[in-house]
Amino acid sequence: MTVTTVRPDLSYEELVEARRASGVAMYNRNKMKLGIFGANCSHGLMATHAESSYELTWEHTQRIAQIADGLGFEAMLPVARYRGMGGDTNFNGENYETHTWAAGIAQATEQIMVFSTTHVPTKHPIVAAKESVTVDHISGGRFGLNMTMGWYKAEMEMFGGTQREHDARYRFGSEWIEIAKRMWTQDRVDFSGEFFEIKDAMSDPKPIQEPWPVLVNAGNSPAGLEFCARECDFNFIAFADVDEARTTAAQVRGIAQAQGRDLGILGYGNIICRDTEKETKQLLDHILEKGDWAVAEMVSAGLGSESGSFDKVKALQERFILGYGGYPLIGTPEQIVEQLLELEQAGIGGMMVGFLDYVEELPYFGEAVLPLMREAGLRE
Ligand SMILES: Cc1cc2nc3c(=O)[nH]c(=O)nc-3n(C[C@H](O)[C@H](O)[C@H](O)COP(=O)(O)O)c2cc1C
Repeated sequence: MTVTTVRPDLSYEELVEARRASGVAMYNRNKMKLGIFGANCSHGLMATHAESSYELTWEHTQRIAQIADGLGFEAMLPVARYRGMGGDTNFNGENYETHTWAAGIAQATEQIMVFSTTHVPTKHPIVAAKESVTVDHISGGRFGLNMTMGWYKAEMEMFGGTQREHDARYRFGSEWIEIAKRMWTQDRVDFSGEFFEIKDAMSDPKPIQEPWPVLVNAGNSPAGLEFCARECDFNFIAFADVDEARTTAAQVRGIAQAQGRDLGILGYGNIICRDTEKETKQLLDHILEKGDWAVAEMVSAGLGSESGSFDKVKALQERFILGYGGYPLIGTPEQIVEQLLELEQAGIGGMMVGFLDYVEELPYFGEAVLPLMREAGLRE
């Protein structure tokens, strides 16, 4: 039996170089990577009734992916969702499973990376490792895995009655990813842990990407940052403002660097962009006026924010409507690029974005914003 090492002996710099040389888009030279986020769920990232051609059909989904692919975006990244969040829109209530979604997107595109976002408690690591290899092969080495531990209680309870207490979710995730990494690199795997017993497991072929597909995690708690710094290539963070982005990015990279490694930082948010400030403001007001305040109230109450000041709660709810609590980029093309520059200087290396109407607005983004990003040195 030949056994390769669990963590092939590459320094972080060597890993980055190897991935760049083999054409892994998330490692290209663009200082601000771009991804499409949330185009696998009804209403995408915006909890609003504002008019949009966006719909959850396969034809429409492929169209979004192909436009983003043609514009040179680096990633298509889905939301992991099995259950709508309620409100008037039953926000995200229609949703595509993410590994199979990624397989379809891979077949429909040429260069963009395709991610699955996977709740680790819902999938056995041997199955997820195998599905990931399959999509990595379908895509010619363009697959990435975004792991989430699960936080939406009713959703996790669909799968067995309970949601683990917070830090146990990351202990579970640590075993899960160790098993997956070993399935990607070793001939035979035995494992005995707190959550898994694995006996003489095997998985061939191996992924095209060496040593394994690009790994992302969106944990922002101390346990989440520690997990991500230890195991992943990118931390996907939520932040209220640029200062918080800078602090969180430095924190998680500091944890990784103390272990002799490093990782990239991704943020997320919707883009609300028009030629003039007046048009932008009109669109913003319209999205909020037609917002699903019922689901925003439920989510902000669930996060314990009902105890804050009214202004703080309202601001949180607005952020939810405008893009799942992400950092919205709002303004004219010039203003959007200024905001992206600020984020890049704060340590954010990529933004996973959504639009009220992906198909309508992406071509405009390509014409009006991308050239300015190139001029500003954010993209080649
Ligand atoms: C940028 C970002 C994206 C996320 N995407 C998802 C998702 O698609 N599905 C999901 O169930 N949770 C998602 N989450 C929730 C996280 O995976 C995680 O469960 C949550 O942040 C709680 O972990 P923490 O306490 O370590 O921060 C996301 C969180 C962030 C910050």
